[in-house]
Formats: sequence, structure tokens, C-alpha cells
Amino acid sequence: MNKIKVNLDKRSSHSYDIFIGQNILDRIALLIAKSSHAANYTIISDGTVSSLYGETVMSALRKTGCPVDLIEFPPGETSKTMETALSLIEQLADRGVDRTSCLIALGGGVTGDMVGFIASVYMRSIPYIQVPTTLLAQVDSSIGGKTGIDLFNGKNLVGTFCQPQAVYIDLQFLATLPDVEFTNGLAEIIKYGVIDDPDLLSTIESELSFIRDRNIDNLATIVAHSCKIKKGIVEIDERDMGVRRILNFGHTIGHALESASGYTISHGNAVSVGMIAAARVSEKLNHLPASERQRIEDIIQRVGLLDRIPATLKTGDIVSRMKHDKKKAGNAVHFVLLKKIGVPFINGIVDEGIIRETIEELRQ
Ligand SMILES: NC(=O)c1ccc[n+]([C@@H]2O[C@H](COP(=O)([O-])OP(=O)(O)OC[C@H]3O[C@@H](n4cnc5c(N)ncnc54)[C@H](O)[C@@H]3O)[C@@H](O)[C@H]2O)c1
Repeated sequence: MNKIKVNLDKRSSHSYDIFIGQNILDRIALLIAKSSHAANYTIISDGTVSSLYGETVMSALRKTGCPVDLIEFPPGETSKTMETALSLIEQLADRGVDRTSCLIALGGGVTGDMVGFIASVYMRSIPYIQVPTTLLAQVDSSIGGKTGIDLFNGKNLVGTFCQPQAVYIDLQFLATLPDVEFTNGLAEIIKYGVIDDPDLLSTIESELSFIRDRNIDNLATIVAHSCKIKKGIVEIDERDMGVRRILNFGHTIGHALESASGYTISHGNAVSVGMIAAARVSEKLNHLPASERQRIEDIIQRVGLLDRIPATLKTGDIVSRMKHDKKKAGNAVHFVLLKKIGVPFINGIVDEGIIRETIEELRQ
């Protein structure tokens, strides 16, 4: 089992470990029992993950003598609401969960974000553990302590920073993940390669067929590499005040595309076109060489992620949604651009004409 430590400033947070392995549920249960010292555990999971893995995780924990319970909610982003969070909180209160307890988020990013949020506010905060089951959650959302709930006005508009006690990644979970969700996770891994480490990009380029076949050794390499990149960024900027914003590469246009399409374009696909757009803007502003921009477009195409903007989406609508993104500061849209692969920078304002021209070029 691979162990990666997330070292945080102890004045604001505690440091914790990310454990990565295959078929490690029994060992995860033992580690949880040994290290977290809670009086009891409540697993929170969406219905799909709960029916696949709920019983197995509960029985692994019971074998170690831990009292454990499970609560589920309906799967999908539409559940990441205050209503679901409140219903879960009431169920915790009914079951007598208190500050001696520990929550376990078993699921994808929706579960992790919502359980993290609940853990940060229930009884003025109780401990929680992340057991991510999607590729996106394993390489991204389970690490770094950003919790969130969606409002009608937009995604993740309510949330806290609250670090988990530990993150336990069993790669075996990925065997049952639908292709579309797996590919969504790959988009975030490509992003890490583009913003931080060309070697990760080379690994994806050379091992793509094994990765697509979900070969465990290849997955172990790219998941661990991604976790190291994410934890490195979180360590420098836990509260998202500076460098952590480079993780938004591709997300400025990506989020606008997601919402303009009424969320019919998946997050991974939206971010992929967003990364191509950001690379093209970087090239137009004479930062990024054309060959590097082309490399980014090629890998996105090879993975089968979206590389063009659907003709039905209007340029004006995309631009106005981009300007309303919560990540803007004042009137400046935080556009993350590239000097070269592995060297991103945050540019306050990009001329609207260049953005419109890029969107038009990328139409299907
Ligand atoms: N906190 C952060 O830093 C951060 C970062 C990135 C994304 N996010 C959030 O993550 C969320 C997206 O996460 P996601 O893509 O994991 O979505 P998700 O949690 O909705 O999971 C996607 C689907 O896969 C199913 N699923 C999960 N694991 C499975 C498995 N092993 N086998 C079969 N099916 C499985 C789920 O039931 C769900 O239907 C968004 O809400 C986004 O805002 C948060």
C-alpha cells in the first residue's frame, strides 16, 4: 500500500495520509480502527455505491469491532443540496451521532463534498474520512478539504474548508465505474499533467490503452502521481488564495459550457474543451508554443473527451456565464494560462474579443 502525506500548517489544520492500494478494504478497516479512535462510525453513501460496496465496507469495519451504521441518499449532482444535507444531518441526530463519532464518505465527489460539509458543521464539526470510489474523487475531490453544496444559483456556492482525517483509495472500486465517469476522471489527470508535470502527460500518452482497460498497475501509477500533484498544491495554498487557483485550468470556460448546456455536457468533457480553449488563448497571447498546444489537443482527442463546442451553445451565453462564475474577483476573470506545459500562470483579464474568437474557432 502506497502512503502519501499531506503536510499542512498545524495552526490551521492537521496533516493526514492518503493510502492507495488494490483490494485493501480489510486493511482500510484495520487502519481506521487503529488510527481514528472514534466511538462509532457512520458511512454516508449514495444509493448506487451503497448497493455495490456498503455491506462490504460495513462488514470489514465490524470485523475490527467498530460499531458502524450506514445512511444513503439518491445518487447524482442533483442531490448535492441543502435539503439532502439537512435530511442527512437529521438522520445523524436521530441515531445519536455526536462528537465522539466519525463519518465516512464512501462514494464520488458528490458524497465527499457533502459529507465533508456535514462533518464541518454538525455539532460544530466532527471528524470524517474520505473513501473515494470514482477516479475524479480519488485524484481530486477527496484531497484538500474543500467541501461544498450547490445552490439554485450555481455549484458549490456554500461550503467550508475542512480536512479529512485520512483518505483511503482502493483502486478496485474503479472496476465498476461507468466509462463516462472514468473518462471524466481522466480529464482531471490530463489537467495535472498540463499544469504541473509533462511526465504525467507522457505516461498517459504512452500507456493509454492499458489505462483505458483499467489495468491496476497503470492506474496505481497515474492515481499516485496525481495525488502527489494535488497534495503539493494544497500544501502551498490550503485556502485557495493563490497558487491553488491553477487547478482551475480549463474550468473558466468549462464551467460556463456545463451550465450553458444545462449540465448535459459532463464536467470532464466541459473541462477538456475548456483546456483546449485556454491553450489556444495562451498561444494567441504568444505564451504557449503551437506544438505544445497541439499536444494538449491530441491527448484530449485520443482519450475521447470533448474537443469541440456544440453548435447549439451561443457564444454570448457562454461569455456571460463565464463572467458570472464565482471564481472571478471583482470584474477580473481568473483565466489560468500556460507559458508551456507544466508552467501555468494566473492572468487577471483576457480581452473578451480573444475569448469570443477562440469559442467561435472551437465550434463543431
Ligand atoms: N472538493 C473538491 O476539491 C472537488 C474537486 C473536483 C470536483 N468536486 C466535486 O465532485 C463532484 C463530482 O464528483 P464525481 O464525478 O465523483 O461524481 P459523483 O459522486 O456523482 O459520482 C458519479 C456517479 O458514479 C457513481 N459511482 C461512484 N463510484 C462508483 C463505483 N465505484 N462504481 C459504480 N458507480 C459509481 C455514483 O453513484 C454517481 O452516479 C462535483 O460535485 C464537483 O463539484 C469537488
